[in-house]
Amino acid sequence: MTSSIGVAVIGAGMAGKAHAAAYRAAASVYSPVLPEIRLVAIGDVYAPLGQEAAKRFGFERHVSDWRDIAAADDIDVVSVVVANSLHREIVAGLLAAGKHVLCEKPLSDTIEDARAMATDANAAADRGLVARIGFSYLRAPGIAFLRQLIDDGRLGEVLHFSGRYWTDYGCRPDAPISWRYQGPAGSGALGDVGSHLSYIAEYLCGDVQEVSGGRFHTSITERPKPLGQVVGHTRGNVSDETAPVTNDDYATFNAKFERCVGTLEVSRVAAGHPNDLYIEVFGSKGAARWSQTNPSQVEVMLHDEQGDLSGYRTVPLGPAHPGYAGGWAMDAPGVGIGQNDLFVHQARAFLEEVAGIPEAESLPRCRTFDDGVHNMEFLAAVAESASLGGQTVTV
Ligand SMILES: NC(=O)c1ccc[n+]([C@@H]2O[C@H](COP(=O)([O-])OP(=O)(O)OC[C@H]3O[C@@H](n4cnc5c(N)ncnc54)[C@H](O)[C@@H]3O)[C@@H](O)[C@H]2O)c1
Repeated sequence: MTSSIGVAVIGAGMAGKAHAAAYRAAASVYSPVLPEIRLVAIGDVYAPLGQEAAKRFGFERHVSDWRDIAAADDIDVVSVVVANSLHREIVAGLLAAGKHVLCEKPLSDTIEDARAMATDANAAADRGLVARIGFSYLRAPGIAFLRQLIDDGRLGEVLHFSGRYWTDYGCRPDAPISWRYQGPAGSGALGDVGSHLSYIAEYLCGDVQEVSGGRFHTSITERPKPLGQVVGHTRGNVSDETAPVTNDDYATFNAKFERCVGTLEVSRVAAGHPNDLYIEVFGSKGAARWSQTNPSQVEVMLHDEQGDLSGYRTVPLGPAHPGYAGGWAMDAPGVGIGQNDLFVHQARAFLEEVAGIPEAESLPRCRTFDDGVHNMEFLAAVAESASLGGQTVTV
């Protein structure tokens, strides 16, 4: 195992800060087996943001050109946390320079670029490099517990899945145009949050086989240009000039998985629902549901023959549940899990793999770029179904 790992993050926007904070905390959860983690550089083209993030999260320096990170001898591991259309070029440059890469989801904004990235990653693996994709919700203890209830048979045969990921960052017409609103069909709400919902659905229901009923809608077709830097979902002052929105504000579809069928719905114009990821699994022996609104609990109902008590019960997540024990400084039930914790556990899993800690002694490995391509093929099938008026498309 190496004696230390030097880390950098490219992109200091909404999710880039979560990666930076996660590397800072990664060695402080679970057993203290990681080598020293050196927080080396934050890269962002907008220098004030990179500078602020480096200072805030304790990184040694900031740079405004990602190539300086690729060229640096003191950096081993890099998170790529910029607009999806930039992933391919930056990841290719980092792998060519011998860096291990953790890339954000979705792998790219086009399937062609995603496939090229997987080819690069597989070639880099022959040189001992680890390239992985951040499917952060696979770290949510509540989702892992739903999967456990399926695997151990307590829910019985899975009959039906329902999932939605409603957000409201685009519900106001004065929300400025940004990279999120421009790209090919399916790169809007579907690529942004549907990419999460689709891998979660497959994690619980098995591989997707068919999609149908695809429908996209762009509810707000023009948005004002920003007058300053747009980070994540921030609003701020805008110009009188507008630019067209070219991708989906809303998407819905049906899917047939190995274990069951279900409907999935995503939105960025669901006013009042800033981050409403909600999933429910119905089985022959009961049902279970989890929501990002209350991520520290799972609700379960079982046909336990007590007819007058039949109904959902609330289960607070804690050390009895998968991945929980040791994963928080205070890991008692009821202390609260947040979305930021998922990035810590994701960074931890990535660093464990880079450090050469055996898989059996590690958190579940991060997913591969081939998994990222599969995720995009799933989303591309939804786009094809939508373009064909909702026809069934085989994945
Ligand atoms: N896993 C999650 O829960 C999650 C959440 C949000 C975003 N994401 C993903 O993270 C990625 C970034 O999303 P975001 O919301 O943080 O975006 P953002 O717009 O908030 O931030 C992107 C940052 O990249 C910088 N940037 C642009 N071009 C650059 C370049 N060439 N080199 C260096 N920096 C550059 C911008 O200045 C900006 O600060 C996307 O792939 C997105 O899908 C994942």
